Amino acid sequence: MNPWQQIQSDEYEAHMSAPDVLQLQVLNEIFRKVIDQFNPDSIFIPGCTTGNGFEHLIDRQNKIILGVDINYKYLAECHAWFAEDLPSLNLICADLNDLEIQHPYFDLIHTALIFEYVDVQKVLSKLSNWLNPGGIISVVLQLQTDSSDPVSETPYESIKKLSSIIKLVDEREFVDLAEGSGLKEIYSSQINLQKGKKFYVGYFKKMEIFRIVP
Ligand SMILES: C[S@@+](CC[C@H](N)C(=O)[O-])C[C@H]1O[C@@H](n2cnc3c(N)ncnc32)[C@H](O)[C@@H]1O
Repeated sequence: MNPWQQIQSDEYEAHMSAPDVLQLQVLNEIFRKVIDQFNPDSIFIPGCTTGNGFEHLIDRQNKIILGVDINYKYLAECHAWFAEDLPSLNLICADLNDLEIQHPYFDLIHTALIFEYVDVQKVLSKLSNWLNPGGIISVVLQLQTDSSDPVSETPYESIKKLSSIIKLVDEREFVDLAEGSGLKEIYSSQINLQKGKKFYVGYFKKMEIFRIVP
């Protein structure tokens, strides 16, 4: 079983919002900015957990909102919180490595702290194929730093299991892989977090292919 399926949502949220971590709030704000900037009609959120930041989608009349997560209980909570206010919300419990979607076309795919847990090349190339031309993938990666462990120490035992599967992704390698999947980095920044941790935030645009007719 994937360790993510063994982490209760209350432990996950308590860990992510603990004073030494404070990542839930930062991720929420990153999502708000992405939504404000791109105002997508259709949005896919892989690794959506219980819907951190979904309140920013309320009253936007998105045609489709798709959330995917490997932990069914997170999705059940997400549904309980948001289904009424977000009529276009669809939730699928699946492993992103294996996920296939029929006729998927999204304006925006928001991927925050998910590439650390999947086959980066495989998932990135699938996501790129599921974007509309000119569509955007927003990416949050946890950066490798000398001063912090990949999984922060908090009292929550189940979180420790993630140490065995987390693989931090080098942002330059990610940018190269993205280019290979037809995605061009159009924005990047770094965010400093508690205890010397850092996030990379990048926006990638799906390159459009023009054919010049002689
Ligand atoms: C760090 S959390 C993501 C945080 C969230 N995106 C946010 O902005 O607050 C990682 C999420 O990815 C999910 N996940 C991990 N591996 C997965 C996989 N292989 N397929 C689908 N979901 C996965 C976990 O269950 C968890 O909900």
